[in-house]
Amino acid sequence: MSKNFQRYTVTAALPYANGGVHIGHLAGVYIPADIYCRYLRLKNEDVLFICGSDEHGVPVTIRAAKEGITVQEVVDKYDKIIGDSFKEFGISFDIYSRTSKPIHHETSREIFKTLYDKGVFVEDTSEQYFDPIAHKFLADRYIVGTCPVCGHTDAYGDQCENCGTSLTPDKLINPRSKLSDATPTKKETKHWYFPLDKYEAWLKEWILEGHKEWKTNVYGQCKSWLDAGLQPRPMTRDLDWGVPLPIPNTDGKVMYVWFDAPIGYISATKDYFAQKNADADAWKPYWKDESTKLVHFIGKDNIVFHCILFPAILKAEGSYILPENVPANEFLNLADAKISTSRNRAVWLDEYLREFEGKQDVLRYVLTANAPETKDNSFTWKDFQDRNNNELVSNLGNFVNRVLTLTQKYFDGVVPPLNDLEKVDIDLVESLRTFPNKIGESIENYRFREALGYIMELSSIGNKYFQENEPWKLAKDFEGNKARIENVLHLALQLTANLAFLIEPFLPFTAQKLQKALGVGKFYWNELGNQDLLISGQKIEQTGLLFEKIEDDIVQKQLNILAEREKMNELDNKKPQPLASEITYDDFAKLDIRVATILKAEKMPKSDKLLKLLLDTGIDERVVLSGIAKHFSPEEVVGKQVCVLCNLAPRKMMGEMSNGMILMAEDKDGSLKFIEPSAAIWNGAKIS
Ligand code: 2FM
Ligand code: ZN
Repeated sequence: MSKNFQRYTVTAALPYANGGVHIGHLAGVYIPADIYCRYLRLKNEDVLFICGSDEHGVPVTIRAAKEGITVQEVVDKYDKIIGDSFKEFGISFDIYSRTSKPIHHETSREIFKTLYDKGVFVEDTSEQYFDPIAHKFLADRYIVGTCPVCGHTDAYGDQCENCGTSLTPDKLINPRSKLSDATPTKKETKHWYFPLDKYEAWLKEWILEGHKEWKTNVYGQCKSWLDAGLQPRPMTRDLDWGVPLPIPNTDGKVMYVWFDAPIGYISATKDYFAQKNADADAWKPYWKDESTKLVHFIGKDNIVFHCILFPAILKAEGSYILPENVPANEFLNLADAKISTSRNRAVWLDEYLREFEGKQDVLRYVLTANAPETKDNSFTWKDFQDRNNNELVSNLGNFVNRVLTLTQKYFDGVVPPLNDLEKVDIDLVESLRTFPNKIGESIENYRFREALGYIMELSSIGNKYFQENEPWKLAKDFEGNKARIENVLHLALQLTANLAFLIEPFLPFTAQKLQKALGVGKFYWNELGNQDLLISGQKIEQTGLLFEKIEDDIVQKQLNILAEREKMNELDNKKPQPLASEITYDDFAKLDIRVATILKAEKMPKSDKLLKLLLDTGIDERVVLSGIAKHFSPEEVVGKQVCVLCNLAPRKMMGEMSNGMILMAEDKDGSLKFIEPSAAIWNGAKIS
């Protein structure tokens, strides 16, 4: 039997303040968490929805180096971008806090100190990578070198982003420090380890026996970690960015980001109550009372930290509740390839909000309908357009629009009375009654796609009811059919009013618009499913179209943006060709390369590649055929001084002899450039 909880603490993974929020984050974590919390609030539950920026760890420091600004500037910048875009997108956090706040530092230090005083940590000295020039210990991400698998020359010490292989710094060929390019050395340093091995038996019991209801992907990942056996993990780092340790003689050491980040949920809760000037203990029931349900929404890369490390830390501390569930989603891809922040391969929320003003619900809908709940999924702009046009516009929007406009047309916008019910009416009422429970059960079991599917099914039922009863046909004899028309519109309006609340967790902006137009008061979830949300005689307003068709040109624009970024990326990542094998000076000396002026140029008949050039080489005038016609017009090249390999054996091309070769260089984007002397020089000058 499921427990009866008195309150809910719901957390959404704290995003690193090193970049914006993209559709992968939204589909994986923030939209499902928001649906869950909005639903709980509609059930009149006591719920606190927690999030904030994760401002420690290596990712923010790397970003600072990349943007050439301080780490503080980075976290301030992205905390604002992320916080603002969540707000505009309707993610209904009760608090969006920051791990750089003093309240977070205090809370993390307090918990660390408790564990330290209890003798939980194991102190150990080990050899760590060290930059002898910068005099700093190096996190794995700060060591780069050649990937032993694919030969990529800028692989990180923890992973090669080119081929995806997980690495350790000692596997890199020619490792170098990102700080100074020095070859890392090893140096002894002391750290405090959390003995996960000692919690293994308890974790096995708690998760593998006690939480078999967790999502298969979450349970499965926990099982493989636990089956493989847990090792002590260092909870401290030699970095100059993070929460300083609360113990003496640990100069310069800070907490491991995965020690302090989840504690951010606790400090954000404290922050929430502090901002409300609440009692100093007001946060405690949300973290220390067994009748509180704690739920962590995360992406799959965070499973081990939320299901194993953080619960073990809380268990060791002893006074906190543990998560009841950790619904992690799989990953969302962008058109079948991975979303990548570093490669700017993503649909960014702040950009979406600018491009698609007022269309928050469309993205919320698409990302829920296509959420990666059980497997990785892909977002495509075509699917975005199709779901908007065929589902939101044609199903939900069409139903609501027909109900509201016909009510206006036939009854001046007043809810008509309900008369004797026919079978088709009774069927509709009975069907409606079943939906709130079905939808609620799916949400409570973290099956948000399924829940949204039921909503669209209910809207389809409304459309079908309209289609079967055809009030517009009945209206041809309005007086004769008045009672039927009244019934059809009354019930369709009641269905619409129910939808106005049922969609609220998923499409909050549309829900608000609709509730306002219908003039309905506040209803809780357990009051839904009934045909008495609206009162006969009550006036309703029009909403205008709830959803608009998205045309091809809008989608094409987005596709162009992605293609453009892809191209930029390719260019950014393009590397020069590997060095050719060694030659001697004598080999080089065989090449007779001269400066020459192009006297005449014309297109070669029947060739789109070749230009026929007449050159003054200082020694002679000669014809050279050059494959540059796609890059240069004849007019552009006449008069140029170029370099020509003059002693190349003559060669016949398209029936014409070519006596040499113009030297060209190919740029990153495939365009060709001439090799020209830096100043005018006499023709025939030899290049040596
Ligand atoms: O993966 C991430 O983006 C982390 N910043 C998530 C942290 S969740 C929590 F522990 F704070
Ligand atoms: Zn590689």
